[in-house]
Amino acid sequence: MTDQKDQTSRGGQPPLLELVDVSKQFGGVHALQGVSFELRPGEIHGLVGENGAGKSTMMKIIAGVHTDFEGVMKIRGREVRLRSARDALANAIGMVHQELSAIPDLSVAENVFLGSQPTNKLGKVDWAQMNSKARELLKGLGLEINPKRSMGSLPVGIQQLVELSRVLFSGAQVIILDEPTSALSPPEVARLFEVLRKLRDEGRSIIFISHFLDDVLAISDRITVFRNGRKVITEDTVNLDKDAVIAHMIGRGSKDMHMGEDAVLKGDDSKPVVLAVSGVSDGKFLHNFDIELRAGEITGVYGFMGSGQIELARALFGKLKLRKGTVLLDGKPVKFGSTAAARRAGIAFVPENRRMMLFRSEPVFKNVSIAILDRIHRLLLRPKAERGITEAHIKDLSIRPPRPGIALGSLSGGNQQKVALAKWLTHLPRVLILSEPTRGMDVGAKEDVIRIVKSLREKGVAVLVLSTEPETVLTLADRVTVIKKGMAVKEFSTGRIEKSDLLGAA
Ligand SMILES: Nc1ncnc2c1ncn2[C@@H]1O[C@H](COP(=O)(O)OP(=O)(O)O)[C@@H](O)[C@H]1O
Ligand SMILES: [Mg+2]
Repeated sequence: MTDQKDQTSRGGQPPLLELVDVSKQFGGVHALQGVSFELRPGEIHGLVGENGAGKSTMMKIIAGVHTDFEGVMKIRGREVRLRSARDALANAIGMVHQELSAIPDLSVAENVFLGSQPTNKLGKVDWAQMNSKARELLKGLGLEINPKRSMGSLPVGIQQLVELSRVLFSGAQVIILDEPTSALSPPEVARLFEVLRKLRDEGRSIIFISHFLDDVLAISDRITVFRNGRKVITEDTVNLDKDAVIAHMIGRGSKDMHMGEDAVLKGDDSKPVVLAVSGVSDGKFLHNFDIELRAGEITGVYGFMGSGQIELARALFGKLKLRKGTVLLDGKPVKFGSTAAARRAGIAFVPENRRMMLFRSEPVFKNVSIAILDRIHRLLLRPKAERGITEAHIKDLSIRPPRPGIALGSLSGGNQQKVALAKWLTHLPRVLILSEPTRGMDVGAKEDVIRIVKSLREKGVAVLVLSTEPETVLTLADRVTVIKKGMAVKEFSTGRIEKSDLLGAA
């Protein structure tokens, strides 16, 4: 695969890489259906589509991760059947995964040369050579870092570039980047783009997946749009703009609007502001961010992964230090130095990773009782009474299966979420912060969670819902703020809005 002629000549040559009528199922789910795709030598090819559209699945097929699929893959016109990621690398295809695969405890150099460390005459790892080579490679990407540093000590954005250098070192001609810019700061994005253009000009081909449509439009020569496991279109970027891409992504014009495709917002300015956040910055993820949460309202914050939602939630719950700006609770300035302080002030937080707050190996009833009863009460109660009280709650929350004795970890995510919400039904907080409250849930559980959250709103709680899913925000929120790169870029408070309004602003 070091034949340079093929990569630099274009017209008349077969594509560098081709998929013909590829389908892939997981269980009963069609992740990809009849997808055909071509990658030319020396192009940056943008790949976009909503969450779950099938982008990562197609890339994992190309990169030899998913070996079991229907259809044909060709490299330079020749049919291939990759057997592993290693096999893909041997065919000069390398991928930087969405979920970083770096090993945090190893040094930067060890990560760069993972599985192919240079050795000396005695067959021992040649550390000096490895470190100096790594330093040189990283310098080529504009990175001046000590190759002996541990990978885990670097910011995620830099780790991503180190992984890219590993892929480059392996000699990849096809380089796949799955959402590389979500974790990068603007100067890091600019540097990455510079590197990608250089690689393209050397004749390599790059597949670039991102939710940031501005980024994709800026860097790609061509763009392919996916929707629901199908390829909608491949088009030269010069013929596209953001609105056109969004229309292809969500299939606007199609009559089949689902729940959460649009909403009529009912922000009510006469309701009292409970939490007023203005001009807050943490120096890294949040920049001059403003938002107001009102009693008896659900405020949605929509943005792509990495746009600062997680940090916003953490800051409001005292887990992330703010350097600038003010937070007023009921009109009084607050500084949450700790989660305990935030909790005392009446702020509750159910994070996206619910596992951290629940006791998965304990039975359901224990978890509910830990949530709804304070310690003293639990100590006074006899186990039987404790079980009785919590059984009523399990019923109220329609937790399924309704068996208090089974381990929480054996419940579906949706039912675990209901247990996590249980506490706030009896101890009403002033402000409830929910991160990705319904992600990955089946329809039934989703509806239950939505019902519970809305009932908290009816009881006067100021609810903040943060999500990367437009549907979630549109289904729940009375008003919506769009967060982009740590800033509140758009607010919607009344009237009808559509998914495309959110995607367009983000
Ligand atoms: N390993 C897997 N097991 C089961 N389902 C999967 C797996 N990977 C992806 N899926 C499903 O396939 C569909 C496409 O997912 P994915 O390719 O990750 O989408 P995207 O990268 O565009 O967000 C989704 O419905 C997803 O839940
Ligand atoms: Mg993906």
